[in-house]
Amino acid sequence: MAEKRPRIVVVGSLNVDHTLRVPHIPAPGETLTSSSMLTCFGGKGANQAVAAARAGGAVSMIGCVGQDDFGARYIEALQSEGIDTTGVLRSATPTGSAFIAVDDHGENSIIVNAGANHAITPEDVEHHEELIRGADALLLQLECPLAVVQRAAEIAREAGVRVVLNPSPLSVAYLGARFVVDVLIVNEGEAAQITPNRNLREAMCRHLIITRGAESTLCITEDGVIEIEPPKVTPVDTVGAGDTFAGAFAVASSEGREDAIRFANAAGALATLKAGSQPAIPTRGEIEAFMRG
Ligand code: RIB
Repeated sequence: MAEKRPRIVVVGSLNVDHTLRVPHIPAPGETLTSSSMLTCFGGKGANQAVAAARAGGAVSMIGCVGQDDFGARYIEALQSEGIDTTGVLRSATPTGSAFIAVDDHGENSIIVNAGANHAITPEDVEHHEELIRGADALLLQLECPLAVVQRAAEIAREAGVRVVLNPSPLSVAYLGARFVVDVLIVNEGEAAQITPNRNLREAMCRHLIITRGAESTLCITEDGVIEIEPPKVTPVDTVGAGDTFAGAFAVASSEGREDAIRFANAAGALATLKAGSQPAIPTRGEIEAFMRG
């Protein structure tokens, strides 16, 4: 473990995931019978927060859950991970939820009901700006309103805090109103829409990371392109693997680790080996043992 744990603030979504195992992703008009159902905590923001905490970060979460039982239990679950939840608000709108189909190859299809994730405002973020100003890195995704994400990024950049954005799920609103960040983490599909030529100016970042599943991860800076092979695994369920990569990368890069992408690749690969989003996120010990192996 690094001597001083990096302080990571995540502004983002918290969902309750209902994951249904199906033989294949249903086609339009098709009805399928699921072989099992798993209900667990998820949401891209909170998945990244849990991944960062398990990877060794001192993590604070800013987001919004409902005043329902799921919301109360979600906050307790984050606290049991050692995550600071002073920035998690409660809304009269129910806690966000996601309905996920996972097929026999581990591929998935997700429908999200944003719920309380859309009740958070830029003013709520300003209310917790001291958390952001004190961070080593701010980690963002796009499941909360874009204005919230943009305001958080502005506060961080004014304070010299590194901003890491995973623009997922990619939206027309984001494509039309991009903003400057330090690190942009995208998959190949997102990269093709944001910057087909993999251009840093177009992507509005200094450091562009493109994850490509089983193929090498691309790390693009003004010095050129580096390719880092991910470990070879046979995925069971890829839900949350990208979030795990982002959370682990935020910690390892804040520690100044030169192998930050290798560390994040290992974390993301391990996250595909178990069912569910947060239940599958590895600890730092598991990541390091896997890297040694
Ligand atoms: O990235 C995976 C996440 O996307 C799931 O946990 C689900 O909640 C959706 O937000």
